[in-house]
Amino acid sequence: MLKLKDIQTPIAKELELFEGRFKESMRSPVPLLNRITQYIIKQKGKQMRPMFVFLSAGLCGPINDSTYRGASLVELLHTASLVHDDVVDNANERRGFFSVNALWKNKVAVLIGDFLLAKGLLLSVRNDEHRLLKIVSEAVEQMSEGELLQIEKARKLDIEEHIYFEIIRKKTASLIASCCACGAASTGIEEEQIQLLQTFGEKVGIAFQIKDDLFDFGLDDVGKPVGNDIKEKKMTLPLIYALKNTTKAEKRRIINLVRNHSENKEKVAEVIQFVRSSGGMDYATEKMKQYQQEAFDILNNFPNNKYRQALEQLVRFTTERNK
Ligand code: IPE
Ligand code: IPE
Ligand code: MG
Ligand code: MG
Repeated sequence: MLKLKDIQTPIAKELELFEGRFKESMRSPVPLLNRITQYIIKQKGKQMRPMFVFLSAGLCGPINDSTYRGASLVELLHTASLVHDDVVDNANERRGFFSVNALWKNKVAVLIGDFLLAKGLLLSVRNDEHRLLKIVSEAVEQMSEGELLQIEKARKLDIEEHIYFEIIRKKTASLIASCCACGAASTGIEEEQIQLLQTFGEKVGIAFQIKDDLFDFGLDDVGKPVGNDIKEKKMTLPLIYALKNTTKAEKRRIINLVRNHSENKEKVAEVIQFVRSSGGMDYATEKMKQYQQEAFDILNNFPNNKYRQALEQLVRFTTERNK
């Protein structure tokens, strides 16, 4: 099993320094804010996005102060998006602990998300990082569009595979793409290389979200609620495939369960069982691997050094991880 610690070897020094700067970037004189941001920092995530920033930068030219700011910027916005996402998804668990909305309620969680977003904006503007801010702001715009498109489809329960891909490209892949673009841009490399790494990040991001969606049908503890997507009427790839490849009557029965009984644990379990026995998980895994392969193919355009090798491992980790 691949370990993040090992993948981090070529950027271990940088990540250690990043840790301190990231904490610093969240500070506030308001006690309630500080209590909550400290709570968030304590349950730190995998920090895959800063890793994408540093490794992409390493691949293109020397890592520098701009790279650190890019890494803090994306992790701030990622954190903000998770705090808001848990409000939107009614989720009470994040990273193995209570979510911000579970402990402090929705009102506070919305404002904390806004605060983190503002901190990211300030970090960029105060340091004249307009290029990085543009890259990341475009991703944030797409994330909001993706989440709203998802809500619209959840209300109608009529989603097709290509819409699913549009949703995940916007809500998740755009930010990971922006990590790779920021890393590259922070080194001052030419536009073409930045674009190439951005596309690489988009492929990885799509694979990343398919993996996340597969977790929802599993039995393992991943540090956040499972079965929650169906509870929230989110139609993800395994379910879309399963519904497309069943009889009309069965499709009607399952859609009715999702539409009218998604609060009922046994009925949700029934939908999950239906998806598991339909080949939907295998199908989604196959698609995930296709995107992973496209990401590897793009990396082959870059010199084969320790950064590229670590990026390759990080792509493998994306699809093999267990949380
Ligand atoms: C979770 O992202 C949000 C999704 C896009 C699925 P991560 O799995 O990277 O979250 P943390 O930061 O490691 O908790
Ligand atoms: C990704 O979607 C979340 C964001 C883009 C912020 P999910 O709703 O599937 O993410 P998790 O499962 O809550 O982490
Ligand atoms: Mg969610
Ligand atoms: Mg999810």
